[in-house]
Parts: sequence; structure tokens; C-alpha cells
Amino acid sequence: MGTDRFQISGGGERLVFISEDKAPPSLLYWGSADGAPQIDDALLHERPVPQGQLDRGERLDCLPEAGRGFTGHPALICHRADGRFVTQLALLSVDQDETLITFHLVDKAFGIELRLTYQLDSSTGVMTASSCIRNCGKDQLHLEWLSAATIPAHHEEFLFFEGRWTREFQPVRCRIETGLTIKESRSGRTSHHAPPFMIYGSHGFDERQGEAYGVHLAWSGNHRLLAERLRDGRIQIQAGELFLPGEMILAPAASYETPKCHVARSTTGTNGLTARFHPFVRETILGNRLVDRPRPVHFNTWEAIYFNHDMPRLMHLAELSAALGVERFVLDDGWFKGRHDDTAALGDWTVDREKYPDGLIPLINHVKKLGMTFGLWVEPEMANANSDLLRAHPDWILAADGRQQPLGRGQYVLDLTRPDVFDNIHGQIDALLRAYDIGYLKWDMNRDLTHAASRGRPAVHHQTQALYALMDRLRSDHPHVEIESCSSGGGRADYEILKRTDRIWTSDCNDPIERQHIQRHFSIFFPPEVMGAHVGPRHAHTTARITSLEMRAVTALFGHMGIEGNIADFSEGEKSQLATWIGHHKKWRDLLHRGRLTRLAAEDKGLLCLMVEDRDILVSAAQVESPVYATAPHLQLPDLQPTANYRVQLINPPRNPALTMKQTPALIKGNALTVSGAQLAHGGLPLPVLRAGEIALFHLQRLN
Ligand code: DGJ
Repeated sequence: MGTDRFQISGGGERLVFISEDKAPPSLLYWGSADGAPQIDDALLHERPVPQGQLDRGERLDCLPEAGRGFTGHPALICHRADGRFVTQLALLSVDQDETLITFHLVDKAFGIELRLTYQLDSSTGVMTASSCIRNCGKDQLHLEWLSAATIPAHHEEFLFFEGRWTREFQPVRCRIETGLTIKESRSGRTSHHAPPFMIYGSHGFDERQGEAYGVHLAWSGNHRLLAERLRDGRIQIQAGELFLPGEMILAPAASYETPKCHVARSTTGTNGLTARFHPFVRETILGNRLVDRPRPVHFNTWEAIYFNHDMPRLMHLAELSAALGVERFVLDDGWFKGRHDDTAALGDWTVDREKYPDGLIPLINHVKKLGMTFGLWVEPEMANANSDLLRAHPDWILAADGRQQPLGRGQYVLDLTRPDVFDNIHGQIDALLRAYDIGYLKWDMNRDLTHAASRGRPAVHHQTQALYALMDRLRSDHPHVEIESCSSGGGRADYEILKRTDRIWTSDCNDPIERQHIQRHFSIFFPPEVMGAHVGPRHAHTTARITSLEMRAVTALFGHMGIEGNIADFSEGEKSQLATWIGHHKKWRDLLHRGRLTRLAAEDKGLLCLMVEDRDILVSAAQVESPVYATAPHLQLPDLQPTANYRVQLINPPRNPALTMKQTPALIKGNALTVSGAQLAHGGLPLPVLRAGEIALFHLQRLN
């Protein structure tokens, strides 16, 4: 008995845990790895026990349990069929090395073992936590909740993310003043309205300053994130998988492991989080697989033709795309048997012979001859009632017997937890990949899971795992095929799906004004090379806005760039400008897709500025609303080396500067200037007078 102390460090961060009298560990310290912990540090953890509460107070440790007197939301909620529900876990043993620690806890009387794991990534300092419970009893264990991690928060300011179709990743700030604040997805996907990430930090933390913690739950099914102000004023954070009623029942000897919860800490606001998350995603989540694989510029057929596929038109679009510099031609929804609108055919993954009398090969050959690779849209998890698949197997869907199921986009979810269904869908997609030279699948998923029952039991958990298994199997048999995660736009975006996909379709909104906001917040957690970003038509299909080609192109240039729109309708001027912007993107994509992204602060909230720095730098300034000031203040570029010199050029000087400016600074006229990093950081870049809907792009070439 007594106090045991444990620590791990990595990536400049250190976590120190203590365990008193073999109780589950508590997080004593999370901060910089500088400085050695001292012998009495643990005593600082002691808290007064106020009057009116349980005699020994409430422990907010790494596994707060009701059975040990915690009255907030417990990290573990479970029961036995005979009604027992009080658990009291104790620390059994600890395994650790420098960056990884595993606490083994046990409650012999209740018959459970629990493992809490924490790891600090040695290069980025991102902490990864997960929990695993094992039923060592003789009867079933009903598990209602197990948090992947419980973190005591020392800040009350929170940033959650909200959204809807075509308006994903919108930040919502709030103070946690009392009780529980919960963000949940019960839709069987990460969702548009509650993506599985959040940030909390010191008062007024913003993009550049303040301590901030970014929490990301890597799970693509149902989830719950919670922040709770406890009755004694402390705040706790939990994140985990959300189960349907009775979904997680563990048989004797069975285990359940939570999704991984990745948390980064920053002392420089959300930019500091990005500085940790982007390299973490590149190295650990993607396993460096996109390094040395320049992201090909896409053409996607969806907004160009919707369901109206016809060969001559597609052949022509392919030619126009190639002439603009496109490198991958993606044939979206509408190519398969009987798919003339969104009411039929999902589930039948063979080519529609009316639209493609000779199959897809003539189109693919044409695309290849034009120097592009070919990608294909699929939605493997779904089926329409009006499909050969469901006519033959009406029982292959997730459904509750005898209940009328609400449909989403007229479709059902296939029960991938059944081996026969899994094998059929795997077989169909595998056959496509074998029959055709397909380098890319746009993997869509367009409805919420409502009656997600399989053989009478709730099944979102197993369905999500079956989806991962399906992707894993296809990837392992077809390692050259890249996959895009799409779910009515950005409805399935998380680090677990990203382990098996190469791009996330950020949003169905191609309006660059909306996109500036959507992409800005997406970019906190995801690097630009996985952020699908397309140049849409002048008149956006999902908003009533008309925007310039420049605004559309520069906005898309900062992601994995593509075009989505009927380029046959683009004017000659638009096409030639677009070809130039695609050329710029290709020239700079190494920088854009490897560099360090910083969201720059501007005093005018309608001016959204970004900088990506590798050796050279790109800076964009997008005026998304009418400017507040007659001239924008200079844009300071933080953290540049003062001794570095740059050749700075505005890539798109105004064509008619006299329209908005009586005098035009040399840089804004398009002259290249040689300037110091010190001056750029201190004095900043002059910006042109930008009207609402205009954007400026600067390139800074490092000279020394
Ligand atoms: C939803 C996607 O988000 C769109 O990009 C498009 O692929 C449609 N589905 C096709 O049905």
C-alpha cells in the first residue's frame, strides 16, 4: 500500500500518474516533458473534502466508478443479469516502457478485468488512450458504457463541432457551467451534426494562443463525447462508443475494447493542435502511405451530369478534363444497372448496359489514353428495395422484425455482419476491381442507421467493424486501389476510417465561401492532402451563390484538388484560368501536402487567411464577407525565421486595380519583392483591397 507514481514521455510531452493504495490511477500531470517530477508532487493532488459529501470525497481518476463513490457520469457502466451493478476496480499491475503504459485493474467479486492504456507518440506528443474490459465471470456482462479515456479538464471553455449536409464542421463555443454537455451521434456514422472531436482550453483560446486540448475519437459508428462540470466544480471529459440498448453483452471470457481516443495538447491555441495532429495523421494514421504519392488532380462527374450518363458526353468531359491538367477521372453515381435516379439499383454492382452498351472499358481506355487514371463511385453498404439483390434476398438488410423502417434516400442498410451478405458485397466489388483498371473507389454512405438490428439484436458496433473488415480485405487484395470516405459529403470523417482510406470528401458543398469555413475547421484535425476540395460551377448547386473562378480555384488548391462541374459549360476564359490554377497546384502540391498549416488571425472576421510553410510558403487571404475596414491591416506571418529571406509575389494581382485602389503597393501590382522573415513576422504582408468573394494568393520563395 502507499502511493505509486508512474510516468511516460514522448514528443516533448509527459504524463504522470499516481495510484494511492492500489486504487485505479489518477492523472497527476500532463504537460511539457521539461523538468523532473519531484517527490512531493503527488501531495499537491490532494483535495479538501467539503462538508455535505461522502466522507472520503469523490475521486476523479482515470476510471471514475459509481461503486467507489463517484456521483458524476461514471467511466464504466455495466451490470449482471441478476441485478448486480456495483463495481470496485483496483490496480493489479502495470506494464510500461518510455512512451506506453498499461494499467491492469481487477474486480474479482464482480468478475471483470480492465486495461487502461496510454501512449505518447514519440515524435508528435499526441496521446492515444483506450480501455479494454474482459468478462471473467460465469454469466453475461451487460456493458452500457466504457469510456476510452477519462480526462480531468482544467479549463471550462469548449469548442464543439456542429453541422448539417453541405455545412459540416461548424464550430460552437460554450462554457461548461453546470452538469453534463453531451455530443452524440446515433446515426451509425460520425455524422454531420456531431463529428467525434472537440477542443477545450484556457479562457479565450483561439487559433494562435492559449492552452488547448484537442480530443478525437477514432470511430465511425455511434459515439458519445461528454464534458461534465461535477458538483464540486471539477470538469471531466469522456469519449467512447455509444451502444444501442442491450447492444454490448459480453459472454464469459469475452472482451470489449474501446475505440482509440487521440488527444493533443497545445500552448499555442488550435494551430498548436494542428502542428501535432497533422504529422501524427501522416505518420501514424496513414502510415506514411501518401508520402511520395502526389495527390492526383480529380475530375468528378457528379455535379456535371448527375444520373445522366451517356458515353459521348463522358468521353468529351474526359477530354476537357485532361486538357485542363486533370490526372484522375472519377465516374460518380449513375453508372450501374438500373440506376437512373436515387430510388433504385443500389446493391447491383454491374454496369448499366443501356448507358454503357460495351461496358466501362471503352471509357476507361479513353481516360487512360488521355493520361488519366480511373476512379469509380460505389455505395457498398446499401441497397434499394428496387434491386435484384433485395428482390432475391429481402432479409439481407438491417431491420427490426415486424417494424416499418423509415428510409433514407429510399435505401436500406445491408447487414454486413452476416457472412453471406458480406461475401456477396465483397465479391461484387472485388469483381469490379478485377474486371476493370480502377485505381480509386469513391466509397459513399448516404443514410443514417435507424433499425440497426441483425438477427434480432442491435448491430451498429458489429456493422462498423464489418465495414472496416470489408475495406481491409479489399485493400489487401488490391493494394494499388485508393479509397475515398464519403458520406453525403463529410458525414464519415475520423481517424479510424482514415486508416483505410486516402481521402475524405469534406462536403457536398462546392461553394468556396462555405468551403472556406468548412475546410478551416476540418483542417484542425485533418491535413490538406486528405481533404477533398473541388472547383464547382460558377453558380453553386447547393447555395444560391455565384463566385469567381479564382475564389473557387484557390480555395480548392489548398486541399486534394479536383473539379466537379460541367466544364463543357465553363467559358474559355474560365477554362484557361482553371488550367493555370491546376498547374500551380501541381507545382506546389508537395509544399501544400507536406507543409505546416497555420490558420492566420485577421482582425476582420470575414477575412480568412491561411499559410502553409515547408521551405517555401503559400499564403491565401479569402474575403468571405464584405470587408470591415477600407484596407485590411497587414497580415503578419508568425514564427518565420527572422534571418530567412524570401522572394514574395502575389500570384493573382488584381486585373483592374483602379477599381478598388487609387494607389497600389508594388507587391499588389504583382512585383516580386525580396524581404526578410523578420519583417514578414513583424510588419506583415500588405493585402490588396478585396471585395466580398475575392481571394489573394502569395508565394514566398525561401532564398537562404
Ligand atoms: C453523396 C455524395 O456526397 C456526392 O458527392 C455524390 O457522390 C452523391 N452521393 C451520389 O449519389
